[in-house]
Amino acid sequence: MSATDIHDPTRRDFLYVATGVAGAVGAAAFAWPFIDQMRPDASTLALASVEVDVSQVQPGMSLTVKWRGKPVFIRNRTPEEIEAAKEVPMSELKDPVARNANLPSTAAATDVDRSAGADRENWLVMIGVCTHLGCVPLGQAGDFGGWFCPCHGSHYDTAGRIRKGPAPQNMAVPTFAFISDTRVRIG
Ligand code: FES
Repeated sequence: MSATDIHDPTRRDFLYVATGVAGAVGAAAFAWPFIDQMRPDASTLALASVEVDVSQVQPGMSLTVKWRGKPVFIRNRTPEEIEAAKEVPMSELKDPVARNANLPSTAAATDVDRSAGADRENWLVMIGVCTHLGCVPLGQAGDFGGWFCPCHGSHYDTAGRIRKGPAPQNMAVPTFAFISDTRVRIG
């Protein structure tokens, strides 16, 4: 076998491979926009769940975070706000269902089942969207000291339950969990 015999096939192989790569790149570039639309991009994945540090949220304070494009209210309720919500007879509730994604859909809208649970009943985590037509209600406002939606006048109590006005449901509680005493993961 001569040196030429060795080099020629090698060179042909190289050209072939190079052409193949170029073809593959071309195909990938063509296919990419299509594939890209079919998979969640990094920002969507990042928003699938969010972790929030609530260590600075003192009783009586709230934090609003954005999750999946919606505001989520995280409120550290005062003992008075918890008591006010607990005192409400179930028969007075316009929407008797907890609307809490962490509980069965039949769970009642008791204060504890609207909150982060018996150990953390001071914490209320809910999607800050009025269940009437989707405005963002104002906190510590309205006839029940909870939230007030100025769009058409819906009043929510300190457990985020609809009490007066056109909104049909309590504000929704998303899937969430406290992963430590000071960090909550939403989603
Ligand atoms: S959107 Fe809130 S009352 Fe209509």
